[in-house]
Amino acid sequence: MKKVVALPGEGIGVEVVDAACEVLMGTGLPLEIRTPPQGAPLPAETKRLAREADGVLFGAAGPSTSPVVSWLRWEMAAWAGVRPIRFFPGMRSPLADPEGIDYVLVRENSEGLYPGREGDLADLIRLMPTLSDRTGRTVQQFGGEGRFAVKVVTPRGAERIARFACDLARKRQARGKPGKVTLVTKSNVLPRTDGLYDEIVGRVVRQAGLTFEHFHVDDAARRLVRFPRQMDVVLCMNLYGDILSDLGAETAGGLGLAPSGNFGDGWAYFESVHGSAPDIAGRGIANPTATILSAALMLEHMGMTAEAERLESAVGRVYRDGRVLTPDQGGSARTRDMAQAVLAAYR
Ligand code: NAI
Ligand code: MG
Repeated sequence: MKKVVALPGEGIGVEVVDAACEVLMGTGLPLEIRTPPQGAPLPAETKRLAREADGVLFGAAGPSTSPVVSWLRWEMAAWAGVRPIRFFPGMRSPLADPEGIDYVLVRENSEGLYPGREGDLADLIRLMPTLSDRTGRTVQQFGGEGRFAVKVVTPRGAERIARFACDLARKRQARGKPGKVTLVTKSNVLPRTDGLYDEIVGRVVRQAGLTFEHFHVDDAARRLVRFPRQMDVVLCMNLYGDILSDLGAETAGGLGLAPSGNFGDGWAYFESVHGSAPDIAGRGIANPTATILSAALMLEHMGMTAEAERLESAVGRVYRDGRVLTPDQGGSARTRDMAQAVLAAYR
């Protein structure tokens, strides 16, 4: 029996996690799902259950449950965000030809600009009065009024996410994918921080015998829209990955479809890429696909690979049929109906 902890979070998180758990229970797999109290801060007993669980399925945070994400992602150090972008025929993509979009965006979750380390410019000027940009302009020249944020990167962080991306690319290669890692940075303006990622990730990927490719984030955004089929594993620094995963989700058909898994050392949790969607919360019309596909990633993580594939295929069938889809996909089905259609297809 595998132990799963469900943390619905807020807004549509509650609706989509309920629906996904109904699907999981309906599959008849040996799963025991518990939904411990959430609250802010997250109760110690809930943290213990989540730490000891085989799988953790999270819904979505609104502003007031951000301590939950903060604990799941940062305190528990889930440093690798895995965000598959895949088009299933029947999804409502805005692209003319989305057929065959199937790549994984890997987001470095623990470095860069997140979580925010911010301060007053006056303090920075006091500490580092001669800190200057490449034109020679010092921070002092901005005047004392203002704020700053700190971007931190480390060789250790770059190397471990590079190895993670390589492992993923190799696994995909075994299933016929090209074996390519595309790195996204902005090293032309940030040669020391982003440049460190270029250097280390490039070396690790080449040593792994995989194809290495690099684009600056602005160019990458354009390519994900124009040439999404050329992507295999797209490795992004934290902020770029946050932005580009919403963009990628939309090219496949919408934010309600994009799942994720977040992995640390001996710890993982699974959640949709989307947030609490206050504009549609409580109406029972949220698309449960992202959370159901996140649950499939969780099954795979727990060693139920065949069942995970079967659940993904079931989602694919519901889109191909096109009869039971939520409003974001042009249908009129409710969250629960769509989840039940996935379960019927699974069976
Ligand atoms: P959002 O992802 O909640 O919603 C953006 C748009 O996509 C909305 O129009 C929403 O209706 C739509 N959408 C999202 N998921 C959907 C689904 N499953 N089915 C149908 N439509 C869906 O982002 P937003 O509005 O910027 O943020 C709302 C709250 O969520 C904020 O408090 C934000 O901080 C939080 N948030 C939490 C995240 C997390 O828990 N990992 C990620 C992103 C935002
Ligand atoms: Mg985001």
